Amino acid sequence: MPVITNIADLKQIYRRRVPKMFYDYAESGSWTEQTFRENTTDFDKIYLRQRVAIDMTGRSTASQMIGQDVAMPVGLAPVGLTGMQHADGEIKAARAAEKFGVPFTLSTMSICSIEDVAENTTKPFWMQVYTLKDDEFMQRLFDRARDAKCSAAMITVDLQMLGQRHKDLKNGLSAPPKLTPKSVANMMTKVHWGLGMLGTKRRFFGNIVGHAKGVTDPSSLSTWTSEAFDQALDWDRIRQFRKMWDGPLIIKGIMDPVDAREALNVGADAIIVSNHGGRQLDGALSAIRALPAIVDAVGDKIEVHLDSGIRSGQDVLKALSLGAKGTYIGRAFVYGLGAMGEAGVTRALEVIHKELDSTMGLCGRRDVKTLDRDILLVPEDFTGRWTV
Ligand SMILES: Cc1cc2nc3c(=O)[nH]c(=O)nc-3n(C[C@H](O)[C@H](O)[C@H](O)COP(=O)(O)O)c2cc1C
Repeated sequence: MPVITNIADLKQIYRRRVPKMFYDYAESGSWTEQTFRENTTDFDKIYLRQRVAIDMTGRSTASQMIGQDVAMPVGLAPVGLTGMQHADGEIKAARAAEKFGVPFTLSTMSICSIEDVAENTTKPFWMQVYTLKDDEFMQRLFDRARDAKCSAAMITVDLQMLGQRHKDLKNGLSAPPKLTPKSVANMMTKVHWGLGMLGTKRRFFGNIVGHAKGVTDPSSLSTWTSEAFDQALDWDRIRQFRKMWDGPLIIKGIMDPVDAREALNVGADAIIVSNHGGRQLDGALSAIRALPAIVDAVGDKIEVHLDSGIRSGQDVLKALSLGAKGTYIGRAFVYGLGAMGEAGVTRALEVIHKELDSTMGLCGRRDVKTLDRDILLVPEDFTGRWTV
């Protein structure tokens, strides 16, 4: 067993173990990947204030997200095709999250279905919902989430169409993977992954196949999104979805204070400052840069969360100190899952927890709930002065 001390270690093993098509799917951003890159590099531009001789005993990372107790304010973000990164991936990740005491969010585009994840876990998880044209499908998706006892719905509003990711087109990304000489040759080198896949029946989009009408090729992400997703989405339509779901609601994919106010008016319980991990609008600001203006605009009226670019507990600490009440990891847990299944997701959470806890102490803070801008050194031009 290799010694894993950080998320980059998990990524190295992940790269070796998972077919190129799925590694590339996770490890890419749209078009030039500028936003994908800056999501991580912008965290490095914020510095921490080193404080000394302050009692750091009795530290706590326990907090709440949308009123639910969490061992640390770091959830697992919804990630499509997680069950292609490792056999039964969604169930494995959900189990790691529930044992750790953090939220797991199931993607609409998951391989394991809502019902399957509910049957194989013991705690409620959150359900991510894409906005599709088909009203019946949408109502049914919310009903299925309610029946499965999901404790929150998360509507993603930044993907009415797919931002182009060159590698997915070149690799012919699909679930299950299409068998071409090139993909077969690559998969044959991924023995551990292949044995897992042969041993499971979960290889299709579990929430879509058999549930959605009029989709000619549900194995292809690009075909399916272009046929089924609703480019006409507007805030009135989101209000209709709010009526379909009476539980806690999170709106994911907000990058602008104007949109944050709209989300507030819809009656959401939280918003996630997110650019989809740099996978949608290439050229958008990094999420961490966009956060302060949104916290200033709505932070006293609604919970503001953040994802996109988090690879360490230090990153989590910076987001929380800038006013986020919760954060999510996407790729960081996928690396762990692809590397070592459930144990790898647990390891990713442990790494981030330890980094958060220790760094908090070294900044002279003991309670994650009291973090604020006072522990940060933020460059004056960090949030920028933009002409709009
Ligand atoms: C491979 C992959 C698949 C994703 N699938 C979804 C999805 O199905 N639904 C969604 O709302 N977001 C999806 N996202 C975005 C994540 O929820 C999250 O916003 C993003 O991963 C955060 O950035 P990070 O990976 O740098 O942590 C996906 C991200 C990745 C990397």
